[in-house]
Amino acid sequence: MNKVFLNPYLFFIILEGKLIAWDYKNHQQFEFDEKYLSRLLDISNSPISHHQIDTELMENNLILDQEEKVEWGWDCLSKIFHFGTKISEDDLLGINTEDASLFASEYMKLSEDTLLTSPSLFIEKKGETVYLPLPDLSQLADIDLLSVLTKRKTCRTFYDESVSLETLSSLLYVTFGNFYSERKEYDNLGLERIGLRKTSPAGGGLHASEAYLVAFNVDGLPQGIYHYQAHAHILTLINSETSFGEFKKIFCGQYYMENLSFGVFVTSRLEKLWHKYPHSRAYRVALLDIGHLSQTFQLVATALNLSPWLSGAFIDDEVSKMLMLDEISEQPLFFVGAGYGPGLSLDPMTAEYALKSKGDE
Ligand SMILES: Cc1cc2nc3c(=O)[nH]c(=O)nc-3n(C[C@H](O)[C@H](O)[C@H](O)COP(=O)(O)O)c2cc1C
Repeated sequence: MNKVFLNPYLFFIILEGKLIAWDYKNHQQFEFDEKYLSRLLDISNSPISHHQIDTELMENNLILDQEEKVEWGWDCLSKIFHFGTKISEDDLLGINTEDASLFASEYMKLSEDTLLTSPSLFIEKKGETVYLPLPDLSQLADIDLLSVLTKRKTCRTFYDESVSLETLSSLLYVTFGNFYSERKEYDNLGLERIGLRKTSPAGGGLHASEAYLVAFNVDGLPQGIYHYQAHAHILTLINSETSFGEFKKIFCGQYYMENLSFGVFVTSRLEKLWHKYPHSRAYRVALLDIGHLSQTFQLVATALNLSPWLSGAFIDDEVSKMLMLDEISEQPLFFVGAGYGPGLSLDPMTAEYALKSKGDE
């Protein structure tokens, strides 16, 4: 009798009263009934093929005649996400990989169709409008890239010092603003504008990320949380409640964020991405988009003599509440912050413990 093995890339879900087996590696779903489920349970205990159902299970790749071991270091959720969002050759069905001219015409059609039915390009929040001073790009004009790259570091000590509104305005504009208002190359071809172009690239040119400023200590700007309207370079006050005490908890105890002058929660409007790219791989794009924005923020902040900090560790739902995000279609994914400081990677308390533990060795 032959041995058989479970496909290691299966999960089961109940949808609309039906049990679905999902082969997330091969992107296949099967409606399942209990007899198949109980046979799979049997096989997992005793991998001997003796049952007529096995042929059917084998044909659909739910069981295999050779064991496929996956050495995966995290839990099953991350495994599902990683393997489930890979592009395989099967996903290329219907895409022209041989004929460049067909590829180009189909891509153009997809982009134009997407624009026609796209969710709104911009969001506007209700609240008091704050006009920012014009960004002062001269502050960045003569700075050499190498010196900024050399100086950039994640800082964890900040002075209780304010940042000018002009500096904040420049940093927001250069990182999150509509930096290239002219798009002659597209306009000359009569192509619809997709809304924005920033100093960081964005998947599909969609710029699904939004910036929410948390102002702690900015000259002339009351403390609070503001939505940054990238296309208009203005702020809208959405929440006046900000205290370092509350933020330290939200940042899972990372007390060294105290005295940041300001920070920006970066969200992704997932609806923009899932509209153009219905496959869950686009979740990777949401994260990658924000990584690019974050690095631009770190470099521009450094060039403006600020000390940057960043965090991916925060209580998501608390942040959503604070940013007044009540739709699942927009989610906070990252935080970048800045203030003035001595440029230290470690805060004094951690540095002291580090010294003590060296002394104890
Ligand atoms: C995705 C990501 C998440 C991070 N999250 C945190 C964080 O929650 N708290 C923190 O203090 N630093 C955080 N960092 C900063 C890293 O710890 C830091 O980049 C690393 O120690 C290297 O130091 P450097 O940035 O000075 O080169 C994060 C960095 C990245 C890229």
